[in-house]
Amino acid sequence: MLLLVLLVCLTACASAEDKNTETPAETEKETGSISAGPEDGVDSVAVNPKGTLTIGFVMIGSESDWRIACNRSVEEAFSRENGYYLVMRDGQQKQENQMKAMREFIDMDVDYILLNPVAENGWDAVLQEAREAGIPVVVFDRKVRTADPDAYTTWIGSDFLLEGRRACAWLEAFLESRQYQDRLNIVHLQGTMESSAQIGRTRALDEALRRNRRWNLLERKPAEFTTAKAKEVMADMLKLYGERIQVVYCENDNMAYGAIDSIERAGRNVGANLERGDVLVISFDAVRHAMELALKDDIAVVTECDPLYGPRLTQIIQQLKRGEVPDHEIYVKEAQFSAIWEPSQVMVNGIAHKVTKLTEEIIENRAY
Ligand code: AHR
Repeated sequence: MLLLVLLVCLTACASAEDKNTETPAETEKETGSISAGPEDGVDSVAVNPKGTLTIGFVMIGSESDWRIACNRSVEEAFSRENGYYLVMRDGQQKQENQMKAMREFIDMDVDYILLNPVAENGWDAVLQEAREAGIPVVVFDRKVRTADPDAYTTWIGSDFLLEGRRACAWLEAFLESRQYQDRLNIVHLQGTMESSAQIGRTRALDEALRRNRRWNLLERKPAEFTTAKAKEVMADMLKLYGERIQVVYCENDNMAYGAIDSIERAGRNVGANLERGDVLVISFDAVRHAMELALKDDIAVVTECDPLYGPRLTQIIQQLKRGEVPDHEIYVKEAQFSAIWEPSQVMVNGIAHKVTKLTEEIIENRAY
């Protein structure tokens, strides 16, 4: 038994040090401690010495500034000081790694699983396994699409379609304010394919393209929510379409950074003066650096996606612990920022959504 305890501790320690490897088990990070080993042949068992809640966190990875802020928020909220024993597994953007982590947590018999799914489909079997093991699964940020809506306990996250619709409504209103009537050539950088963030934001642009006959989509390509990939994809698009590109619709801030870099390297300006030949950049997330770029008009509009899930998730876990039933779907309220033009609102399906005029003060007070 003593040997087993030692082995489990050694595995945990070694893994926590090596975060750049492929499998979730090798990228593990425990914010609590493992104090006992299994007696029943299970690989590892997390036992919280203080008898507080053991939480398994199935992470996506660290592809963006947003994701880093999100992971940090969860890690801070589920700290030992707050009475939690948090076990984190990095999925490294791969659903198979996330599945493996889920199954590991089921074997560990954690009290709750926090699932941040990289893609929407493919979760039915593993969620059923968690259910059979009696482990509530709280899904957050992106959604899962399951045959049985009760396959998971609750979901909290963004309305990605609404985010996209607000971005497109802003562009429509902006063009109207400038009485811009010509053809408008757009390129589109998509996030991780099949993720809710990509699906919602892409669908919103498709709707807007159907509504606005003069909007012309030159090309769309996945750029994985990363700066590096977006740089590469945007450079290729610039080679192909050159001066014709007028708008770039980036599905997150990091891709906007990459796009801006390539646009400037190609000798073009980013901004909102279409007559002058600027490339107008649209982005999502609203992390601090993107807000700074928006303040100097490099990004025309940034629609917020809030990464601060930690406190929201602890609230849900406490509700569940008390035997309460949280809503099955909870949408987070989000904002929209621009420094270029100040309509106080944009309309989406007859509902007004506030647009906040960006200021230095807002950026200074930004938590991420
Ligand atoms: O799911 C949220 C999205 O994923 C954010 O927009 C993006 O930055 C992240 O990587």
